[in-house]
Amino acid sequence: MPQTVCATDRVYLVTGGNAGIGYFTAEQLAGTGATVVLGSRSAPRADAAMAAIRARVPGARVRSVGLDLADLGSLQATVDSLEVGRLDAVVHNAGVFLEGTEPKRTGDGNEMHFGTNHLGHFALTYWLMPLLEAAQDARIVTVGSFAAKSERLDLDDLQSRTDYQAKRTYARSKLAQMYFGLELDRRLRAAGSTVSSVVVHPGGALESLTPSRPPVHVRKAGTALRMAPVGLVLQGKHAGARPAVRAVLDPRIAGGELWGPRVFGLRGRPHRERLWTQLTDTETAQRLWQASADLTGVAPTAARR
Ligand SMILES: NC(=O)c1ccc[n+]([C@@H]2O[C@H](COP(=O)([O-])OP(=O)(O)OC[C@H]3O[C@@H](n4cnc5c(N)ncnc54)[C@H](OP(=O)(O)O)[C@@H]3O)[C@@H](O)[C@H]2O)c1
Repeated sequence: MPQTVCATDRVYLVTGGNAGIGYFTAEQLAGTGATVVLGSRSAPRADAAMAAIRARVPGARVRSVGLDLADLGSLQATVDSLEVGRLDAVVHNAGVFLEGTEPKRTGDGNEMHFGTNHLGHFALTYWLMPLLEAAQDARIVTVGSFAAKSERLDLDDLQSRTDYQAKRTYARSKLAQMYFGLELDRRLRAAGSTVSSVVVHPGGALESLTPSRPPVHVRKAGTALRMAPVGLVLQGKHAGARPAVRAVLDPRIAGGELWGPRVFGLRGRPHRERLWTQLTDTETAQRLWQASADLTGVAPTAARR
């Protein structure tokens, strides 16, 4: 569906558009004729991704801006460097998933997963809001994770100071993002904004099931055959991008919805999911919002209409 959509006058930003699911999100959106801006913390990796997109999508309108979500003080300058009058959608895709037992912190002193994945996108949304409101019916698409489904937020320990396990802290940061995306939509609706916020997740998306896009990603010979049984359960990153791409392009999708892959939430075509039980807890969402505003010093607000 999305590849047939024509969106030549649209401008989209994809955070972490230089690699993985973000790369494929950008490639698929570029296929609609839209201008796609890759938010990337590495100019050489962004250049490689743009070359790969241009090789697949002749005439692709793609460019990049420097983006480091772990540096909250840099985000206003990133938005200024977009040099656009309006933004039709942003895909909050970038994410860190660390290994090891020792927590890492951003330069702002926040736990790295929570600080980058959640607080970085929370603050970025604040700076982007005037551009989104200047577009007609703009969308904010937040990429969550299936890993968050079995998690609960600890509002008294959002920075995992007393209970750091990399995998769990990552999953909680993704859950925080999903609460944010839903709470944001409630606030946009209350303000009568034309901007909407949709939450998606990519299922299980593995490099080894992902087609080559040199120089961004090269699948080794024989991997496709060896991984075929895994492909019955999980998918590649090109497929993992589809819920986000659909959420950007499909006008039938409404703010406040959750979309993920059809087959057990792990693979397959995008479909709408019922909100997971913990995500219906609006009090937790509101408390997280307030804590995020306190930690970042900003809070996304829509101009009241
Ligand atoms: N793959 C899965 O199965 C899966 C499942 C559930 C959810 N997700 C979510 O889907 C999203 C994409 O995952 P992926 O598998 O494509 O991951 P990936 O291949 O590791 O790509 C992550 C992207 O995020 C960027 N990034 C990391 N830290 C950043 C920062 N401080 N500022 C700006 N960009 C930063 C990376 O940039 P660099 O190239 O500079 O590192 C890269 O472009 C993530 O939000 C992830 O949590 C993935």
